[in-house]
Amino acid sequence: MRLLLGKEIANNILAELMLEVTALREQGVIPKLALLMVGTDSGSQVYLENAKRVAQKLGIDVLEQRFATDVLLQDLLTFVENLNRDRRVHGILCQLPLPVGLTGDGEQRLVSTIDPNKDVDCVHPYNLGLLAMGRARLMPCTPHAVYQLLKRNNYQLSGKRVVIVGRSNIVGRPLSLILSTKGIDATVTLCHSRTPHEELQRICKEADILVVAMGKPKFIDKNFIRPGAVVIDVGTAQLAGQIVGDVDFANVSELVAAITPVPGGVGPLTRAMLMHNVVSAAKF
Ligand SMILES: NC(=O)c1ccc[n+]([C@@H]2O[C@H](COP(=O)([O-])OP(=O)(O)OC[C@H]3O[C@@H](n4cnc5c(N)ncnc54)[C@H](OP(=O)(O)O)[C@@H]3O)[C@@H](O)[C@H]2O)c1
Repeated sequence: MRLLLGKEIANNILAELMLEVTALREQGVIPKLALLMVGTDSGSQVYLENAKRVAQKLGIDVLEQRFATDVLLQDLLTFVENLNRDRRVHGILCQLPLPVGLTGDGEQRLVSTIDPNKDVDCVHPYNLGLLAMGRARLMPCTPHAVYQLLKRNNYQLSGKRVVIVGRSNIVGRPLSLILSTKGIDATVTLCHSRTPHEELQRICKEADILVVAMGKPKFIDKNFIRPGAVVIDVGTAQLAGQIVGDVDFANVSELVAAITPVPGGVGPLTRAMLMHNVVSAAKF
């Protein structure tokens, strides 16, 4: 069984990006990322702190703005509109989901307000539309991380049967679009909570590559695995004081050809793909 470690690949991508940032700075372009957060969710805080640290290491300037949970939606939208107009800012990321009170329509209005050219989290409907058409300029970070993990480990995707469990707009659904794009050419099946359980096991067992993004710790055991499959576990959760994925690692590890550990698999690459988007946006 091979362990698919994200850190080494992330470091390679960050080294490539550092050269690009240096070249941009020499041309007088200083890439700048605006990080917005509403409320005090600890997971979001950790994500933003890590993003800030990695950005600054690369030479990307960071503007950090935190809002109280009771911020008015209009104030948030006005702040984003000002960032859209600011030519020194190349990327805007607002940590989602927003706190209750701003979810639903508020979240939709926020993501639609971000200038698509600065939408480094790839949440604007225009960018998701381009992705669906196979013409993406920016890709959502976690699905892009999964793609890079497979690509840079030399897994051939063309003609392969990929099963994705989870259809969220930030992970499963965009990943299905990326992997089924002409030129990447995987045959993709997307499963979700309304896929009957026995059906889910049968479909997962047909997968050459199984990607799990459910948010259900240790849900996937050997009853879902085809011997020799490659398994990418996107899930991250705290269980009994430990960080675990959606796959029961110990239960499946003897059956799989390769698997991502949690932590240490997809996570480190997600941050690297955010930086990739900031550098791309600085070149638009
Ligand atoms: N490593 C990273 O960088 C990274 C980034 C983002 C997320 N994550 C992690 O990835 C996981 C998923 O995140 P998310 O934001 O995509 O979650 P989400 O929005 O809650 O979506 C979960 C998806 O799983 C499906 N699902 C839930 N229970 C299921 C079941 N019993 N059988 C089949 N499908 C089921 C849901 O189906 P329905 O659509 O029918 O509800 C939904 O599509 C979480 O653990 C999250 O922490 C990690």
